[in-house]
Amino acid sequence: MSSPRVALSLDGPVAHVVLDRPEARNALDGEMVRELADAVGAASARDDVRVLVLSGRGSVFCAGADLEWMKTAGSFTDEENLADARALFDLFQAVDRSPKAVVASVQGAALGGGAGLGAVADVVVAEEGARFGFTEVRLGLVPAVISPFVVRKIGASAARELFLTAGRFTAARAASIGLVHHVVRLHDLDAAVDERVGELLRAAPGAVAAAKALVRSVAGPPAESLREFACRVIAERRASKEGREGLRAFLEKVTPDWDPGRGRISG
Ligand code: COA
Repeated sequence: MSSPRVALSLDGPVAHVVLDRPEARNALDGEMVRELADAVGAASARDDVRVLVLSGRGSVFCAGADLEWMKTAGSFTDEENLADARALFDLFQAVDRSPKAVVASVQGAALGGGAGLGAVADVVVAEEGARFGFTEVRLGLVPAVISPFVVRKIGASAARELFLTAGRFTAARAASIGLVHHVVRLHDLDAAVDERVGELLRAAPGAVAAAKALVRSVAGPPAESLREFACRVIAERRASKEGREGLRAFLEKVTPDWDPGRGRISG
């Protein structure tokens, strides 16, 4: 039950969904989005599965959307560009709406869509060195697709600061805004995840699904009502002058033209 970029394995009632593209820091490109959505869908549909554990192989949990993929999508037709954005939105929604409890295990970094995956998990365990960030505006983009899920999770105040500054923040800060629930030492990460899974297995499966649906219902407008709006925003952004410049700069490992540090020799 595995595929090239995402590995799905079962351990009794626990489904392990592993992002398996460490050479690109588990960045989400079109293929990976499809495979991840398939794995989450398959695990969520099984009666014998009660908990999904989402993790990333290698040094980093997930570096967010694949910026090469984003750059390519920016030169697609409007409809193709929108279709890509919808596929990404539907992945977050599939995790968000899974009737199973979802635990995310975060090491290294969770940036952009990686932080978005944390936002749609029910329980997030992070190692103390993990860094989080909504880096999109430094790339000329905006965290549009993840925004309905993230703003619901961390609130508008934290979102305004973090979306606008794009600053990277610690696991402790992530815990203080509700994006992370447990911060542990790196070598305790797997044990801490197992402990959370053990707790979740003591809960009645039907009640877990009902409790998730309950929180979604009372927490604000359903994310799907913002799907078209959020997808339109990112599709326009990645085709924009700033979006193209930001993605070019990232991929060429240079600073974009709006960055005051441009041209300076600094560390
Ligand atoms: N999209 C595409 N490729 C990415 C990527 C992304 N989001 N994040 C990392 N990569 C690639 C790098 O370009 C590099 O490729 P190369 O080996 O061909 O040069 C490779 O993954 C390793 O990245 P590197 O930066 O050398 O790894 P690191 O371990 O030092 O740092 C990160 C890891 C995640 C902290 C760093 O890669 C990073 O900040 N990435 C950008 C993440 C981001 O802003 N995401 C938001 C997207 S909206």
